[in-house]
Amino acid sequence: MNDESALEQLLKSNEYLHHIDMDRKTADLVFDRRTVKAIYKLMSDRTIEYLDFPISSGKESVVFKVFAKGKPFALKVYKLSTLRFGSVWRYIEGDRRFSKEQIKRSNIVFIWAKKEIVNMEELRKYKIPTPRPLMYYRNLALMSYIGSRASPAPMLKEYSGDFNMAFEQIVASMAVMNQKAHIVHADLSEYNILCFRRKFYFIDLGQAVSIEHPWAEYFLQRDIRNMVNFFMKKGIKTSVDELYKSVTGNARTKEFIVE
Ligand SMILES: Nc1ncnc2c1ncn2[C@@H]1O[C@H](COP(=O)(O)OP(=O)(O)OP(=O)(O)O)[C@@H](O)[C@H]1O
Ligand SMILES: [Mg+2]
Repeated sequence: MNDESALEQLLKSNEYLHHIDMDRKTADLVFDRRTVKAIYKLMSDRTIEYLDFPISSGKESVVFKVFAKGKPFALKVYKLSTLRFGSVWRYIEGDRRFSKEQIKRSNIVFIWAKKEIVNMEELRKYKIPTPRPLMYYRNLALMSYIGSRASPAPMLKEYSGDFNMAFEQIVASMAVMNQKAHIVHADLSEYNILCFRRKFYFIDLGQAVSIEHPWAEYFLQRDIRNMVNFFMKKGIKTSVDELYKSVTGNARTKEFIVE
């Protein structure tokens, strides 16, 4: 039996749905055939046991809480249909770490999933809080799950604790990211930081680039502006110049605003 007909049978039999906590209609809305196949591959080689529940469903990805060897993980499924080539290639093309990749419309989403995992590995080397990356396969990225049994960790946007502590911790992580890991997040905001047990985790790292990327300085200043805008609303006294100095160790000499 070839691969395609095996999949055909699998889909017809609904067998894969036994491992997914959702009904047929929802599964069809969420997954295209190639994604079902990729998820099934991870199930058949026991990388994951079953999909528990969707944590988040966005424009370009769906994140699931999944179980493997009895423990929870997060599986990020990049949507094959909506990841826009035009909006992502520049984050890959200028990054020397990925210069050997053949960037094509058909495989860019796979490079994107790999890039997220590689970036997480880099941050972990320097002990910057981020999910522990496990593996990537096609448009899937598997990482540790941040949260409790009952619910995934809230985003910084939903945080209501001590903002001085949050700011201090996030700035310290941004400084290590910049000066040691040499990476710019490039989509940093209160939506892409999770708070769990008073620790702030950086997530959503597909677009993060090396500081050698030609646009790195622009991305960095945009990240810094986002953090300054958020924390100023929470009563923290700071400024773009001040945060820039804390993060890079240098005074800001040039302002980049390209919107
Ligand atoms: N490892 C994780 N543990 C727990 N929750 C997570 C994890 N990773 C992501 N999430 C949840 O899923 C949401 C979306 O994840 P992420 O920010 O990585 O995707 P996204 O690229 O923003 O998705 P989209 O652009 O499609 O909205 C996060 O806001 C967070 O709530
Ligand atoms: Mg996000």
